[in-house]
Amino acid sequence: MTEQTIDKQPSSKQPSAATPALNITPVSDAIGAEIRGVDLAGIDDATFAALHRAWLDHGVLLLRDQLLSDAQLVAFSRRFGDLDEAPPNENGKGGVDGFPEVLVLSNVKENGKAIGALGNAEAIWHSDMNYIPEPPTGSVLYSLEVPETGGDTGFCNMYKALDALPSDLRAHIADLKIKHDSSTNSGGFLREGAKPVTDVRDCPGAIHPIVRTHPETGRKALYLGRRRYAYIMGLDLDESEALLDEIWSHATRDDFTWHHRWRVGDVLIWDNRCAMHRRDDFDDSARRIMHRTQIKGDAPF
Ligand code: OGA
Ligand code: MN
Repeated sequence: MTEQTIDKQPSSKQPSAATPALNITPVSDAIGAEIRGVDLAGIDDATFAALHRAWLDHGVLLLRDQLLSDAQLVAFSRRFGDLDEAPPNENGKGGVDGFPEVLVLSNVKENGKAIGALGNAEAIWHSDMNYIPEPPTGSVLYSLEVPETGGDTGFCNMYKALDALPSDLRAHIADLKIKHDSSTNSGGFLREGAKPVTDVRDCPGAIHPIVRTHPETGRKALYLGRRRYAYIMGLDLDESEALLDEIWSHATRDDFTWHHRWRVGDVLIWDNRCAMHRRDDFDDSARRIMHRTQIKGDAPF
């Protein structure tokens, strides 16, 4: 026997280099999984492929005890796709020096000026940038400083929310579309240049199907964006409000949600196509500093 023949093993018995086994632990029955034993600063292609698969399967990934420079955060995030540049926040500034893709979320003020977006207030349930034609695919959020209490981030599984809709309601909304108001952000601030909303039927914003198909998993998910100033196209105002209230109270039920209590060095990666998120408020005398990237997306269908 030649050495070559001896070396040949049935492929099923060989550990496949293409799919390393990840240590994946679901963090709740609703959504999310923790990945242990992966250093995002030095991740290789095969491990990333497995991580990406886990992200599609679980909607949100948590990785703890990471130590990432902005360059490493950007390099890791780029593996998911092209990144958006950080939009100007409510204080008019976007990005960090040298890394226009890195958005700072923080309540910390230096010389009287906020160093980041979103302050310390509650951010209500939303998916990111639902009000544009091509909302982002997802985001990577990395914690540098966190308050001792408060500032938790919640996630809601929109596949499950859709699957559990009563069948008559599901049939009723199958072909409906929502207009997603673009004037107000998730913290309730009016975006720069936006006019206060007086009638949701007239406000600006993208129109997307209420039920969308995830382009990578093929699964259908509810797509609600955010409640405030939403409008279901073609319905009377009262009908639209009542139907939205009904779907929202169903979708944000506890059994579809999970809330993350932050530690420094945590990374959360969410899939914005099948998960909504929110943030609890926290004491403004505490400091919360997060660095965040956002993966460019495509039009929902
Ligand atoms: C976001 C967001 C929540 C948080 O980054 O899009 O909503 O917990 N953040 O900071
Ligand atoms: Mn958000």
